[in-house]
Amino acid sequence: MTTTADSSADSCPASDPAWLDGAGVVVTGAGSGIGRALARRLAQAGAKVVVNDLDSAGCEATAREIGALAVPGDAASADGVAALLAGARAHLGQVDAYFANAGIETGSDASPAAWERSFAVNMMAHVHAADQLIPDWLERGEGRLVVTASAAGLLTMLGSAPYSVSKHAAVAYAEWLSVTYGDRGVIVQCLCPQGVQTPLLPGGALGDVVFGDNVLTPEQVAEDVMAALHGEEFYILPHPEVATFYATRATQPERWLRGMRRLQAQLNSRT
Ligand SMILES: NC(=O)c1ccc[n+]([C@@H]2O[C@H](COP(=O)([O-])OP(=O)(O)OC[C@H]3O[C@@H](n4cnc5c(N)ncnc54)[C@H](O)[C@@H]3O)[C@@H](O)[C@H]2O)c1
Repeated sequence: MTTTADSSADSCPASDPAWLDGAGVVVTGAGSGIGRALARRLAQAGAKVVVNDLDSAGCEATAREIGALAVPGDAASADGVAALLAGARAHLGQVDAYFANAGIETGSDASPAAWERSFAVNMMAHVHAADQLIPDWLERGEGRLVVTASAAGLLTMLGSAPYSVSKHAAVAYAEWLSVTYGDRGVIVQCLCPQGVQTPLLPGGALGDVVFGDNVLTPEQVAEDVMAALHGEEFYILPHPEVATFYATRATQPERWLRGMRRLQAQLNSRT
């Protein structure tokens, strides 16, 4: 898209990735939290944005606020992704980047239904998205998938087995996609924050013990994603200390496990 220097400065601040200006992007789970903040920033950077959420009121509210198209629905099912992409392609022409951000946290509910739903939303959503996006991207030789996983996918989350394990699967799948298609123009990035101030963040003793006051706003996380969109680095770590914890887990697993058990004991003593 060609613009004069002045109008370009209005629509796309110098600090934003130039490729976003006029790009067609989709953000799932954009009715709230990180997805909403991200959709807002992408629109400010000049992208044409399609927002999705299971919560249609939240989805419509984001769309109204930022001038996006709302395609509410289930981003976790193959049919839901097909409907989302049909709406998005009709509106955008093509999808240049897909932010697979929708996620759920079932807390201490580790029933079979909670496991199934966690894997559907936190993991299979990415499989359906990749299945339906990557053939087109390979043909075009370009495309970008940004998966919102979690630091829980690199470490663990106290008290929530379905969340921890499904997020590990999301990271592993994103890695596999990057390895398989990274040399053919498909960029895959994986966002792994710790605590972010959204309705999904656990409160009470669990929130205190795990996150303390080291909690970011969704807007701060969206800025880190925007910075990462300048490049192709796989991990986006808004809490940089996660890289250190991840390294400890890999190189000194017994030490890391002891530390996590101590944290669990601290939580047990408060509940
Ligand atoms: N908040 C945190 O501390 C934190 C930390 C690490 C990772 N994350 C991840 O960030 C992502 C966004 O979460 P958030 O913190 O903004 O929470 P949020 O609850 O504010 O937003 C998540 C949104 O996803 C939507 N959603 C759930 N299932 C969906 C589906 N099947 N299809 C479409 N939309 C669906 C929800 O309706 C909700 O609006 C999630 O993947 C979450 O796991 C959050």
